[in-house]
Amino acid sequence: MKAIILYDSRSEGGSTDRLVDAIGQKLAEKGADVEKARCRAQGDYSFISEFDLVIMGAPVYYLMVSSQLLGALIQSDLSNRLKNKNIALFLACGSPQPMAEILYMPQMKINLTGSRILAEKVFAPAETSDMEVIGEYVNTIYAKWLREEERRGRKR
Ligand SMILES: Cc1cc2nc3c(=O)[nH]c(=O)nc-3n(C[C@H](O)[C@H](O)[C@H](O)COP(=O)(O)O)c2cc1C
Repeated sequence: MKAIILYDSRSEGGSTDRLVDAIGQKLAEKGADVEKARCRAQGDYSFISEFDLVIMGAPVYYLMVSSQLLGALIQSDLSNRLKNKNIALFLACGSPQPMAEILYMPQMKINLTGSRILAEKVFAPAETSDMEVIGEYVNTIYAKWLREEERRGRKR
């Protein structure tokens, strides 16, 4: 599996950076070849075609998903490139999970019609460095990805 983690954060070395590295580490332990890239709102996302799985996420600042990731989904070719792709979403935020699922997750999902969302997870601040929670998220993604591969294999 070739996977890329697309993310954004205002902080260097903050909770999102650490979370992204931990997700990458857990996925690499499963044998995946993992890369990461910070989103740019005006970026060229043609490289996405090289990847079997795209994990995408960011923190929330002032009620909005971090702007370079949200901007990329709205302004660039990223949404189009993600059509028919296996993707997984995550957020890092301080709000309670039900609020995050209602207010923040849809900011990404509304721009992802036509993608296969295998898993989505809201990480509370303490969870961004909890390897057990991060491992569960990666396990869910990997299990769903395998199932999807089997389904596609049966179709071929
Ligand atoms: C300036 C600022 C604004 C924030 N606004 C929100 C918010 O509106 N809703 C929320 O759930 N969390 C909010 N948070 C919490 C962050 O989303 C959370 O701490 C996240 O893990 C920060 O990621 P980072 O360390 O990569 O910057 C805010 C944090 C900061 C510093």
